[in-house]
Amino acid sequence: MATTTLQKPTETPKSKTGGKTPRQLSVPTDLGAKASQEISDAINPLIADAFALYIKTKNYHWHLASSHFRDYHLMFDEHSEQIFATIDVLAERVRKIGGTTIRSVGHVASLQTVKDNDEDFVAPLDMLNDLIEENKNMAANMRKAHDVCDDNKDVATASFLEVFIDETERRTWFLYEAAQRDAD
Ligand SMILES: [Fe+2]
Repeated sequence: MATTTLQKPTETPKSKTGGKTPRQLSVPTDLGAKASQEISDAINPLIADAFALYIKTKNYHWHLASSHFRDYHLMFDEHSEQIFATIDVLAERVRKIGGTTIRSVGHVASLQTVKDNDEDFVAPLDMLNDLIEENKNMAANMRKAHDVCDDNKDVATASFLEVFIDETERRTWFLYEAAQRDAD
């Protein structure tokens, strides 16, 4: 039987336009080309991280073994859905201001800061602590992107980020409280 080897992309996918919006995809905006580029460059890594953290949270939802199985299984599912819901909102913000956004899994891999975990087994407390760190990092990265939006007067993207920062901090809170009890 033939075996297939999965390979990680070795380089960032290169677009033919060097990351600039193709003429056919241009969208009128009063923010200007420089703002459009800076905001897109700030938001696209957040979208990549949302994809990666969605998968990591689902990974833990699927591969959990714990005496608190129901609690953690349901919490991870709720968190993954909340993270997933941010993706389309952010990607469409990038398009609305004339930028381009995520095109492939390889594109996600090239931009993500979330660390994949392909271990065969992860202890539940390690899952909680890992997700705490990832969500903390996500909130910090969203705050930096918010600054870029502020600098470019993009109040709409900033407004969404404020909600997503709150949701991310809520996830961190719940994960932290779960980790405080004697997780086995
Ligand atoms: Fe499920």
